[in-house]
Amino acid sequence: MELDQAIYGRRATRAYTHEPIDRSVLEAVIDAAIQAPSAMDSQPWGFCILRNRLMLENISREAKALLMRAPPAGLDAHRFDDMLGNPDFDIFYQAPVLILICATKDSAWSHIDCTLAAQNLMLAAHGKGLGSCWIGFAQSWFQTGKGRAALDLPPHWQPVAPIIVGHPSADTPAPPREKPELLWRD
Ligand SMILES: Cc1cc2nc3c(=O)[nH]c(=O)nc-3n(C[C@H](O)[C@H](O)[C@H](O)COP(=O)(O)O)c2cc1C
Repeated sequence: MELDQAIYGRRATRAYTHEPIDRSVLEAVIDAAIQAPSAMDSQPWGFCILRNRLMLENISREAKALLMRAPPAGLDAHRFDDMLGNPDFDIFYQAPVLILICATKDSAWSHIDCTLAAQNLMLAAHGKGLGSCWIGFAQSWFQTGKGRAALDLPPHWQPVAPIIVGHPSADTPAPPREKPELLWRD
């Protein structure tokens, strides 16, 4: 796939088939993720791959409850009341896989490095005909003691980017981009 096609064609996918994804394919998208740049080449990332649908359903339920009870600063959770209060709403959209990218080194830039890895991972997934979506709704739950324990994360792993991956079951239209502000300083 051409680079432009990948960049312009990737979408946040919110509808998946139940088709599983081979371990080798997941390893390949993770290999693409770690080609991202990192500050001082520290490569401060780890990948926790969750393929247990029952666990994903439980996490979705608990993450919604946490968001309603204690919304993270800066998130107007009331905007999502209908969604979060709906027992049928799965924050993971029935995707078969969640890859949680975690910062594994305590550097000033490790979270930024992990987000660069996340973008590579989402583009690589698109290149393989897979859909993906960063699930911010899950982020605060994974940072709780219960969330960390559910995945048995090593103590130095800090959850940064929960990304679902799967075979899309529908096309997603591209949300139009706003014109960016440009400040030219010639
Ligand atoms: C940090 C971050 C958190 C996000 N959290 C969610 C989420 O919890 N649920 C969701 O459906 N989409 C989530 N998204 C996807 C965005 O809504 C999506 O990227 C945006 O609408 C633009 O669409 P596009 O990715 O198809 O261009 C998140 C994206 C980012 C970068």
